[in-house]
Amino acid sequence: MLRPEINDLLTQTGPKTPMGELFRQYWMPACLAEELPEDGSPPVRLKLLSERLVAFRDSYGNYGLIDEFCAHRGVSLWFGRNEEGGRRCPYHGWSTTRPASASTCRRRPTTRASPRTSS
Ligand code: FES
Repeated sequence: MLRPEINDLLTQTGPKTPMGELFRQYWMPACLAEELPEDGSPPVRLKLLSERLVAFRDSYGNYGLIDEFCAHRGVSLWFGRNEEGGRRCPYHGWSTTRPASASTCRRRPTTRASPRTSS
């Protein structure tokens, strides 16, 4: 029988946990392509390594996997819409691009530009 701390070490896979850091070094399946059958398909919510994520297929056919919650005020991006190769938040309209440029917020209508804004 494992001690509780050893069990936690081996089974906790959230961000900043030893096993989470290990698993994040490898590819892993997130969802099936048929769950996003066509460009602009409805997004899919999923949980992977203790993180809630949204998988989507943009209007150009690119697949994306992003944090479910908007970096601005935490609204679920599952309720957002596919737009301009990214996912637009339904609340204030920030747009997040697909993973090739993950965490890049391209438009923030309610905020002044910052160094992280790419266009
Ligand atoms: S909560 Fe998403 S843009 Fe404000």
